[in-house]
Amino acid sequence: MNFGLTDEQRLLRDTVRDFAQREVKPVAEELDRTKSFPYEIVGKLADLGLMGIPFPEEYGGGGAETLSYALAIEELARVDSSVCITVAAHTSLGTMPIHLWGTDEQKSEWLPELCSGRKLAAFGLTEPEAGSDAGATRTTAELDDGEWVVNGAKQFITNSGTDVTGCVTITAVTGRTNGNAEISNLIVPNGTPGYEQGEPYRKMGWNASDTRPLSFEDCRVPEANLLGRRGEGFKQFLHILDGGRIGVAAMGVGLAQGALDEAIAYAKERKAFGRQISKFQAIQAKIADISAEIEAARLLTYKAALEKDAGESFTLTAAQAKLKTGRLAVRATEEAVQIHGGYGYIEEYPVCRFYRDAKILTIGEGTDEVQQMVIARLLGC
Ligand code: CAA
Repeated sequence: MNFGLTDEQRLLRDTVRDFAQREVKPVAEELDRTKSFPYEIVGKLADLGLMGIPFPEEYGGGGAETLSYALAIEELARVDSSVCITVAAHTSLGTMPIHLWGTDEQKSEWLPELCSGRKLAAFGLTEPEAGSDAGATRTTAELDDGEWVVNGAKQFITNSGTDVTGCVTITAVTGRTNGNAEISNLIVPNGTPGYEQGEPYRKMGWNASDTRPLSFEDCRVPEANLLGRRGEGFKQFLHILDGGRIGVAAMGVGLAQGALDEAIAYAKERKAFGRQISKFQAIQAKIADISAEIEAARLLTYKAALEKDAGESFTLTAAQAKLKTGRLAVRATEEAVQIHGGYGYIEEYPVCRFYRDAKILTIGEGTDEVQQMVIARLLGC
């Protein structure tokens, strides 16, 4: 077993680490406070080739493996989760279905724009009545005169309504067999008549990321916008979620690490009872526990990435990593706030934002309870 990173992986990690410190950290608080989408940062990430890390170079992607992608995500989340989820949702949820199941025409049309970051992609699975029960999709798409006519609604869709969003890939019921819904995936470009993005949600965290409800009313897209085989849509999107969970797990590791970084720096600076608080055992125990948990969670996340890169089944490890890291991020950010005392409760200190940003990691891309269901089923329950 080799725990070392390759030179390329280390270079990518260090490049993103440096970028996050230089470009993201100085503006993260303001972007969060003003709920402003980070257009400028996305442009700079695109210039660095970071908006298409795992996609083929022939389409302008980075041609890198999942582990490299996870390293980049971890470094961004260490500094700001809004920027990070913008990249992660665009990459592993929005663009990945087109990479995996797109026809040559679909790939040529979309991948160069998406991999270069000139356009963003969104992933339209969740609906008002189909969240954890993702197969309960009610959105329909009927073929009429060579076009799919889409009707329905989606909810909580990241990156769906920015000025640079190119498309959303959605699940829709395209027919019924023996009473069972036949679910397929479609690409719906932004700007298609009948497809509207609602107002952004007012969220607890991830304030600078774009999250909206979507509606489709007699929205017509060409028959050729079917993504993958008709009727395979649900399984395709479950597979996408498996990969997305590695990215979200990397976000949990990064956020927990960022909280620990801030907590250690503060504890070394803050004095109480005539000493730095880092000298007190109560503070040291928190720091030591969290650091050990981060390292364990990091290794589990990298294992899931390596399994995916090796072409092995990674559903179990990805769900375990997602479950472990989401909870860890909540706990680590809470402890970091605790170490900051009253200062942790005011927004001038990043741990305040980190705490708000952590909670969604136990919910998005499959709740903890869904991860438990996936894990238990794979263990034979
Ligand atoms: N990959 C591929 N196929 C899979 C699969 C996987 N990981 N898991 C199951 N399948 C197949 C099954 O074999 C089955 O195939 P057959 O019909 O041929 O037997 C089919 O898919 C249906 O599987 P299940 O019967 O297990 O499906 P289910 O209805 O019981 O639900 C579930 C499974 C795990 C609960 C699933 O619905 C799920 O993951 N729900 C959570 C949804 C989720 O994560 N949403 C997050 C949205 S994205 C988001 O939050 C991101 C954001 O914006 C930031």
